[in-house]
Amino acid sequence: MNGRFVTLEGGEGAGKSTQSRRLAAALRARGIDVVETREPGGSPGAEAIRGLLLSGETERWTAETEALLFAAARADHVARTIRPALERGAWVVCDRFLDSSLAYQGFAGALGWEQVMRLHEFGSRGFLPDRTLLLELPSGDAAAREFQRDGGALDRFGRKSGAYHEAVAEGFRTLARLFPDRIRPVDASGAEADVTERLLATLEDLL
Ligand code: TYD
Repeated sequence: MNGRFVTLEGGEGAGKSTQSRRLAAALRARGIDVVETREPGGSPGAEAIRGLLLSGETERWTAETEALLFAAARADHVARTIRPALERGAWVVCDRFLDSSLAYQGFAGALGWEQVMRLHEFGSRGFLPDRTLLLELPSGDAAAREFQRDGGALDRFGRKSGAYHEAVAEGFRTLARLFPDRIRPVDASGAEADVTERLLATLEDLL
């Protein structure tokens, strides 16, 4: 594989989607072939599973079922979209990936991150990003941006408690400490263009 696989992670409203687009555009400006994708979703099968995951009651799925659905969506996404793109030499920029499952289902949910990792090993043969950019904002800021963007119309996860989202943020910080080579925290505050520059600087050694 010649391409590079870069994921963006963080809590709700840290600006991941905007920054995924901006980062992909900045890489294209350097002549790189870039595939932009997201999770849950990113392939037709995984997009169908996304509908099951994000709609309905907060307690619609048991913790185990939810983790399996994310892992199943990811397995399809890796096999149908990500690996083929990397094999033809493209870069893949993905808005959320495994670390979201580790932080949300593993740390904030009931399962523990090792169990989630086991599902990933089965579903996607443990496939990992070359680099993960963790967008960090003070939690008050993130909530404010999310509210502005969606007018308060939150999905199943956005509607969970403040304590849950704090546990997610703590989970991401723990993951960054456990995997410092792969996961790099990036300050997501300030002007969009400045954040994009910080993200690019964190990828310099891969370019
Ligand atoms: P999305 O609309 O992509 O969210 P956001 O704009 O917040 O990035 O919805 C994804 C939601 O699903 C988000 O609340 C995080 C959650 N999620 C998990 O709990 N586990 C996962 O593995 C992934 C990929 C997402």
